[in-house]
Amino acid sequence: MPLNFVQSSTVFWAEKIMRKSLANHLVITPVKEEIKRKAKPGHTYMLYIHIPFCHTFCSYCSFHKFYYNEEKALQYFSFVRHELRKVKEQGYDFETLYVGGGTTLINEPELIKTLEYAKSLFNIKEVSCESDPNHLAPNSLRRFRGLIDRLSIGVQSFDDTLLKRIGRYEKFGSGAQIQEKLLKMAGILPTTSIDLIFNFPGQTEEQLLRDVITAQALDIDQITTYPLMQSNLMKKSISKAFDGQKSDNEHRFYELIRGAMNQYRPVNGWAFSRQEEKLSDEYVGSHSEYVGVGSGSFSFLEGTLYVNAFDLDQYMDKVANEESAVIASCAFTPKQRVQYQFMTSLFDGMVDIAQFNQMLKTNVERVMGKEITMLKLAGAIEISDGVIVPTEFGSYVSLVLMREFYAGMDGVRAMFRSQPKVDKIVNL
Ligand SMILES: C[S@@+](CC[C@H](N)C(=O)[O-])C[C@H]1O[C@@H](n2cnc3c(N)ncnc32)[C@H](O)[C@@H]1O
Ligand code: SF4
Repeated sequence: MPLNFVQSSTVFWAEKIMRKSLANHLVITPVKEEIKRKAKPGHTYMLYIHIPFCHTFCSYCSFHKFYYNEEKALQYFSFVRHELRKVKEQGYDFETLYVGGGTTLINEPELIKTLEYAKSLFNIKEVSCESDPNHLAPNSLRRFRGLIDRLSIGVQSFDDTLLKRIGRYEKFGSGAQIQEKLLKMAGILPTTSIDLIFNFPGQTEEQLLRDVITAQALDIDQITTYPLMQSNLMKKSISKAFDGQKSDNEHRFYELIRGAMNQYRPVNGWAFSRQEEKLSDEYVGSHSEYVGVGSGSFSFLEGTLYVNAFDLDQYMDKVANEESAVIASCAFTPKQRVQYQFMTSLFDGMVDIAQFNQMLKTNVERVMGKEITMLKLAGAIEISDGVIVPTEFGSYVSLVLMREFYAGMDGVRAMFRSQPKVDKIVNL
């Protein structure tokens, strides 16, 4: 069903509030003094490791990355391990690790060494790792048994026309070849997940539904369907890749996906699972505090967002000199923290008011009174027994908020984009 007037206004309002809040409050300032962080005893954090290398770049992707250079990558991995040791010295411990990129499996021996090292330092129980379709050879993946619990594979689409448009057909093969690779790797690692992107310019309903049906037929454990995020950083290259075509069917496609995912159940605003358990998702803030390791990674600790050096040489120099890799930070106000956590909890499917208040030492109904009333009047949330749950429309609103939030984070990446200092290393 198309959005009615109240719903369209709510979506417009949600986008506007998020953009305004990011523009006014996401003020990242360079750190002047060495950042000294210390873990809070008994607190749970998530660990994120960033691997910023790719052989070629896809037209829509704004993630922090450089063209692969083996020598640099070998150095980089060793500096990541060094940084991990520093994090250990600061008293942090982790049960979950997310490895994102870039192309995380671009140098498998180094990744294995790094995962083994991380596991030797911390009480890590679950490791999620991204991959692209070129690193799914069963013999290679078997070497990651016991090291990676969940592999999340970037498929984006099985449609050859779309794959060609986004520059992935030549790199990762046709939709049929990707399906074959996925079938061959089934069961090697405990959990497999695939990423699809929807709402590409000119994408048709048929293309979308074929992707969703194909993904389910592969019997994959989890499927994530991201709306195409077009930050200012990527707008031009996306438009060029699609010959300037314009279309926006985000809501219609979202409804179609939710309707067609009949063999899976939603686990958050954009992910679906065949299993009962929750999933770790790089994007989702169910872990409210996390430590990021590696160039261009973010940490969120005690209400402050920290940004690690984006420039590879700067990152490595800092770690080599036993300095913190953090180059900038932004302290969230108490209200922003509540807003951010409210958005991610809604996206994850519910806000238990008492738990939420206890965790953030707040009164969410007072701090977010206006927003909660608006969402309730628009039919985006329902409140009963002290729990706020998004309606079907509310899940879409939470996706819009999340999409805007991450497009805003691209603004942070854009700020730190710098000229390459090393031959062959090209910053996006
Ligand atoms: C950082 S990428 C790494 C994946 C891996 N390198 C690959 O290419 O398959 C992780 C996921 O983010 C999603 N992603 C990246 N850019 C996006 C964008 N502009 N809009 C929506 N999703 C995006 C893709 O689905 C991708 O699989
Ligand atoms: S989508 Fe993956 S392979 Fe493509 S540029 Fe982004 S990180 Fe690299």
